[in-house]
Amino acid sequence: MGDAYASSLPHESDARFRERVRRTLRRLLRQRPMGFEQLLTCCLNCDPAVLSVILAEDVASGAVRRGGGSDGSSLFVLGGEIRTHESAAEQQTNGQRDAWISAPAYASSSEIRSSLQCIARALPEAAPVYSQWWFSISTCFRLAELMIRLKRDATEIAFLGSPTFAAIFSQLSDMRATVFDVDTEVLRRLSSHYSPVSQLVPYDVGTELDASAAERFGLVFADPPWGRTLLRSFLRRASELASVGGAVVISFPQALTRPGLSGEIRTLLREAVSLGLHLWRVIRNATEYEVPLFEFDAYRSCGIELHTTWRRGDLLVFRKLGRSRQRTLPEWAWPVAVWEQFCVDKERLFVRRGINGRTSTLSISPVPGAIDFRCPTTSSRSSVMQLASIVSTRNEVASVRGDLQLGDTLREHLTRIAVSREAAPSHRPSEPRNLLGELGLLIAGQHHDRPQCER
Ligand SMILES: C[S@@+](CC[C@H](N)C(=O)[O-])C[C@H]1O[C@@H](n2cnc3c(N)ncnc32)[C@H](O)[C@@H]1O
Repeated sequence: MGDAYASSLPHESDARFRERVRRTLRRLLRQRPMGFEQLLTCCLNCDPAVLSVILAEDVASGAVRRGGGSDGSSLFVLGGEIRTHESAAEQQTNGQRDAWISAPAYASSSEIRSSLQCIARALPEAAPVYSQWWFSISTCFRLAELMIRLKRDATEIAFLGSPTFAAIFSQLSDMRATVFDVDTEVLRRLSSHYSPVSQLVPYDVGTELDASAAERFGLVFADPPWGRTLLRSFLRRASELASVGGAVVISFPQALTRPGLSGEIRTLLREAVSLGLHLWRVIRNATEYEVPLFEFDAYRSCGIELHTTWRRGDLLVFRKLGRSRQRTLPEWAWPVAVWEQFCVDKERLFVRRGINGRTSTLSISPVPGAIDFRCPTTSSRSSVMQLASIVSTRNEVASVRGDLQLGDTLREHLTRIAVSREAAPSHRPSEPRNLLGELGLLIAGQHHDRPQCER
C-alpha cells in the first residue's frame, strides 16, 4: 500500500506547481461550470489566493470564461477545447468522499447535538500559531465511527493534537482517552467535556514523551499542523505512543497544499517504515475543517471571502508492526513551543517568548508584508508569520520590542480592554473587535515614556 500510494504522487518542482493547479482547475471546469468556492473545495487544498490568481490569469487569456449563475453568482466555464494530462493523484477530487468512512446513526441524536454545541461554545478562538483548524461536526462523527471500527481489542486511545475531536469522541465511546496538546488554554476550557476517565496532557511534540506513555496505546489519532517539520514530529510521536500491533491514524495534507509536498510525503512514508509503521489504508477526503476566524480574516484582507468548509485532508491509517529502528534523533531540529498566550474572553494574543529587550519602553510596529497589522496569509512559511512576535486569533501580527516586564504590561492593558468591553458590549456581536488593534490604540494613548505604538 505504501509503495502504491507513494508512486501515485507526482514528482513536482516549485516551477511546475502552478501548472498543476491550472490543469486541475481546467479538468474540473470541463466537467461542469463552477463558482470559486466550488472549485476551491475540489482543488485538493490549494491555497485560495493561489487559486484565485490562476483563475484570473485563465480568464484574462480566454482559457476560462466568467458567466452568471441563476442566483447572480459568478460561474466559471472552460473556453474552447483544452487538453490536459494529469497523474492519478491530481485526478482525485474532493467531491468524492471515500465510502469506507460513513456517518454513524447516533449522529442525529439531539442529546449528542446539544453536547456538541456546548463544546463549540467552550472553545476559545482558534490560534494560527498552533495551526488550529477544528474538524467539522460531520467529520468528527465519521472519524469516531472509523476509530471504533479500528479499535480491535484496544482499551486506550491517544489523541495527539486533536482536542476537539477527542472531546466529541469521549461523549461517544467509553474507551479511556489521553489527550496530548500544546495548547493548555484549549485543554483547560474543554476539560469538563472529556469523560472522567480521560487524561489531559499539555505536551509539545518537540519534547521527549514521558516513558509511561511510550507504546501504551492500541489506537492513536493525530491531526498535525501541516507544516513540514511538525508533520514529521507528529508522525514520529504518534508511532512512539502506539503499541506494537496497534493502529495510527493521521490526517495528511492533499496534493495541492503547497509546492513540493509530494516529495515531502514520500520522505515521510519512508520514515514511517523505519518507525515500524506499515501503511494500511489511505482514505481520501476524510477530514473536513471549519474555516477558523483567523483564516477568514486573512483571506478577506486579500479580497477573498471564505464561507465554505473548503479545507480537506486525507487520512492515512498505519499498523504498527514492529519497534522503531530509529535509535537517535534525526538531524532536523525539533520545534519548540515559543508562545505565551493572553486571553480576553475567547480572543487571544500569542507573544513569542524571549523577545524582551533591555529598554523600559514597549513598542508595537507592523511587520513588513502585513497589510497594516493584518497578515494576508495563514501559512507558517510566510516571512510575515516568521517575523511576527505577536499574533492574534484574528490573524493580526506585529513586531514587539522593549519592556523588561512585557508580560505584565500586556496583561495590564488586556485587563483594561476586558473591563471596557464588559462595560460596553458591542452592539453588533457579529462584527469582530480586534484585540491587537485595541491594544495598539491603548499603547498609543500612553504617556511618552510609556509603551509606544508605531504605525
Ligand atoms: C490542525 S489542528 C487539529 C485539531 C483537530 N482538527 C481537532 O478538531 O481536534 C492541530 C493541533 O495540534 C496542536 N499543536 C500545534 N503545535 C503543537 C505542538 N508543537 N505540540 C503539540 N500539539 C501541537 C494544536 O494546538 C491543535 O490542536
